[in-house]
Amino acid sequence: MAKFMVNGELVESSQEEIRLIRFLRENLRLTSVKEGCGEGACGTCMVLVDGKAVCACIPKLAKLNGKQIITVEGLSQREKDVFAFCFAASGAVQCGFCIPGMVISAKALLDNNPAPSREDIKKAIRRNICRCTGYKKIEDAILMTAEFMREDKPIPKMDFQGRMGENFFRVDAVEKTLGSGLYTDDFEVEGMVYAKALRSKYPRARILAIDSSEAYKHPGCLRIITADDVPGNIKIGHLIADWDALIAVGGITRYLGDAVALAVTNKKEELDEVLALIKVDYEELPALTSPKQALAENAPLIHEKGNLLSLQTIKRGDADRAIANSKHIVTKHYSLPFTEHAFMEPECAVAVPDGNDGLILYTGGQSIYDEQREICSLLNIPPEKLRVKGMLVGGGFGGKEDMSVQHHAALAAWLVKNPVKVLFSRQESLLIHPKRHAMEIDFTTACDENGIITAIKAEILSDTGAYASLGGPVLQRACTHAGGPYNYQNIDVVGKAVYTNNPPAGAFRGFGVPQSTFAMEGNLNLLAEMVGITPWEIRFRNAVRPGQVLPNGQIADESTALEECLLAVKDAFEGAQYAGIASGFKNSGLGVGVPDIGRCILSVEKGKIHIRSSAACIGQGMLTVLIQMACETLHIPPDFFVAETPDTSRTPNSGTTTASRQTLFSGEALVVAARKLKKDLENYASLDEGLAKLEGREYYGEYKPVTDPMGSDKPFPVSHVAYGYAVQVVELDELGKLKKVTAAYDLGAVVNPKAAEGQIEGGVVMGLGYGLTEDFPLEDCYPKVRYGKLGLFRAAETPEIETIIVTRKGCIETAHGAKGVGELSTIPTAPAIQGAYYKLDGIFRQKLPMENTYYRK
Ligand code: FES
Ligand code: FES
Repeated sequence: MAKFMVNGELVESSQEEIRLIRFLRENLRLTSVKEGCGEGACGTCMVLVDGKAVCACIPKLAKLNGKQIITVEGLSQREKDVFAFCFAASGAVQCGFCIPGMVISAKALLDNNPAPSREDIKKAIRRNICRCTGYKKIEDAILMTAEFMREDKPIPKMDFQGRMGENFFRVDAVEKTLGSGLYTDDFEVEGMVYAKALRSKYPRARILAIDSSEAYKHPGCLRIITADDVPGNIKIGHLIADWDALIAVGGITRYLGDAVALAVTNKKEELDEVLALIKVDYEELPALTSPKQALAENAPLIHEKGNLLSLQTIKRGDADRAIANSKHIVTKHYSLPFTEHAFMEPECAVAVPDGNDGLILYTGGQSIYDEQREICSLLNIPPEKLRVKGMLVGGGFGGKEDMSVQHHAALAAWLVKNPVKVLFSRQESLLIHPKRHAMEIDFTTACDENGIITAIKAEILSDTGAYASLGGPVLQRACTHAGGPYNYQNIDVVGKAVYTNNPPAGAFRGFGVPQSTFAMEGNLNLLAEMVGITPWEIRFRNAVRPGQVLPNGQIADESTALEECLLAVKDAFEGAQYAGIASGFKNSGLGVGVPDIGRCILSVEKGKIHIRSSAACIGQGMLTVLIQMACETLHIPPDFFVAETPDTSRTPNSGTTTASRQTLFSGEALVVAARKLKKDLENYASLDEGLAKLEGREYYGEYKPVTDPMGSDKPFPVSHVAYGYAVQVVELDELGKLKKVTAAYDLGAVVNPKAAEGQIEGGVVMGLGYGLTEDFPLEDCYPKVRYGKLGLFRAAETPEIETIIVTRKGCIETAHGAKGVGELSTIPTAPAIQGAYYKLDGIFRQKLPMENTYYRK
């Protein structure tokens, strides 16, 4: 019997062999202790054991006899109040999944060192990964906490107006800091059972037979589900339904993550035992490991329609002629790897039967309506029978756009008529969800004697892995943005996205643009050298200005502030010995003629205004954005608003959280609804009277801009409703160690400066990883990686980041002028690092992550 104290209470357990994290979460329901990796590599499970910060996913209960364990729930009320306030005030909370672990590491530090330096803090949180924030604001929060505790400062009462530009506290900061907010795995339902899929043994193999008879003899086995049990369409997929929910007998698997059978058991720990008893006969087939192999003549077809998922061409002007007539020409090949989102919260879904013939799905995905549509098709039920509710999402970055666990939870719950949870282990998460596309790019760029770009020509070969996911649009964005944010008119880009037997690739912050930007910006540095001007100067001479035309034909609108961004970083670039610079731009919204609608309902209920939007918050602070836009439109303080979480029974379809679109699209839909409410409120003498009289009214807002399709024959097509622009300077020391990043951003009007900075800092650090350390190695389609080996940046490695927000105000009317920043922040980082290393050692690196650097020998 293990006996120890948890948060001041004596607890006992006979389950001496279970890990501490399981006991704390499942037996004591202490939800602040999060399981991010289960292998001691991420710090989300941090607790204090006899005053030391320890990962609760490692020790077994037998080792804890007589110990004192403290979780965030066990902090004093004063500590809770201070941590919650300081983390909210510093803008340190985004998805929040890492935050309770950070709080524990901070407490361990502050108990011994009440006046830590920033370096002390970096050291104290060295075992805690945060994938969202870039650490700076977390360090700020801990410094502030230390000051409050040391000086016994009272918690100030904040009086927010919630207007645009105010550092209004995130609405979910407190619950995320203290661990009381519910992510899907924190959600428990009476009588819940568990499901897990048996994955294919080979990347490509024919399933000859599945025998579940031994599995059914296991006492915990409730049901083995195979493809034959699926009542509806077995194919899922947001845009192209090509992904088998389960591979049928006779079918051929397409990657190692393919599900062959689904086990449902009474207890979580029985899942692996039951799965091991399912016998599958395979005929192993040779796998296609690369797009080149997949495009070869006589290559086997991964999908019936062929191995080419998407072919994109962009041709304007006459690139061949312009290149032939140009003074300087650079042609290079670039290789970009698969990379992993590594969001901190592994995927989880809970499906619960609702009445006799319905289901409620609790999900941590990026779009409740896509999930509803696809699961209804899988189960062959109408949408009224499936209510989808969004829980807190512990990071997504595009990796939670596709379904991974949701359809299996729903299918199992539908068949066994019981609440079912499906939770991925970190290793399942790494294997199954789509990655950032690996791309091979041949890129030619030409300019005249003054460094004015004349043309580009590019061929992009993209490995989209086993399933379409978002591979088509990702390739489109790689192509549409290949030319960079510059003013020239000859462009010839051909892109191919090709199926292979690798894990699927899909949406990932930047959506194809980081890859082609790396090639474009690299070539630009070489051209500058040939012309005899600096990398800054060549960008300044070519930067697109308002009224000028981007290479895709779109006229840059009045808000375009790339020139101002370049001017803002000029001193940082020119004052540094070893610095690189890169520009980037990113669309807001799907664009290119694809229907794209933001929707929002405001309803007056019991004296409050409910904001109802299905826009998923994956860490960016969507509910806070919507409240600030509502305050700005209605001139009403934030206390009057209730921002609801996504729920298909309450919130209208605002589309997926993708393409940096929600701030602009759902924001403008809210503004439209708010203007209608404002008009009605003007009929009353006071706000209280107005809200009382308007009780029960609903105001609907929609934003539905029109864009032109790819290949439009208009002279100046509108590909996207808005673009944000950015320039980054990366400075190295003489050893090649990162010294500072200076990042200037044109993101339109700023909703919340701290939140915008947090997005930028987090995006920059993700970009540092992309450039220097992150990889997702595959050997013959088998991933060879664990979470701790992904190469994610930690606080101690993260350099100073200076963020400069540059805005040409009043130029865009929609969404109070906000353009969004979610993806833009990551795009210029890797090429800026490449330029800095080129300056340092003269080696022109064409492959990511870069080799022979301080970070990777
Ligand atoms: S869950 Fe324990 S360190 Fe990641
Ligand atoms: S806020 Fe740290 S991982 Fe999301």
